[in-house]
Amino acid sequence: MIVAPSILSADFGHLASDIEMLGRSRAQWIHCDVMDGVFVPNISFGFPVIKAVSKLTDMPLDVHLMIVDPDRYVGVVRDCGAAIMNVHYEACTHLHRTVQSIRAAGMKPAVTLNPATPVAMLQDIIEDVDMVLLMSVNPGFGGQSFIEHTIKKIKELKNLISSTSSKALIQVDGGINTTTGRLVAEAGADSVVAGSAVFGAPDPIAEIAALAAL
Ligand code: DX5
Ligand code: ZN
Repeated sequence: MIVAPSILSADFGHLASDIEMLGRSRAQWIHCDVMDGVFVPNISFGFPVIKAVSKLTDMPLDVHLMIVDPDRYVGVVRDCGAAIMNVHYEACTHLHRTVQSIRAAGMKPAVTLNPATPVAMLQDIIEDVDMVLLMSVNPGFGGQSFIEHTIKKIKELKNLISSTSSKALIQVDGGINTTTGRLVAEAGADSVVAGSAVFGAPDPIAEIAALAAL
């Protein structure tokens, strides 16, 4: 399991030491949640913070943009050092163009679905993306409860991927801990995002190891 801890739940006053801790853990990516207060009812952090994080680590940055019209920022996100640029299906008017421009900028394109958006909406873009993120909470806040319906969507997504030439990975984000992580692993997820479960754990390195072993 590819574990992508979300630094939304990190200690922003000591971000460097949390990034250093992730470097000693079995985490493979660092998940950066950007919120604009429009697409979601919260504002998190922006590009200068991601750029600072990229200078502290060689781990790939998995940038999850909960913002309207993310295509405006493809070049900025690339210049921040992102490896994966993840945009919401619901936030892109011309998703195909956005995905192509992310790849042309040298990043891996990923697309995210909100809990109420059907997997079938990806039918005509699935072969163009490197990853699909299924939100298992409504985006905007850490620490929410996992929505069980996500399990059905993981299975549907797995079927969609295997019925095409797509090699997209399946990532799940929201309410992930070792219990819900086991459910999504069994359903076929390749990657989990975890914020509060990792940074709220007494031993974050052990928590990440437990998620990685799922
Ligand atoms: C939610 C964010 C998540 C969040 C997950 O809008 O996209 O990445 O950090 O937090 P937990 O793991 O606490 O649900
Ligand atoms: Zn996220």
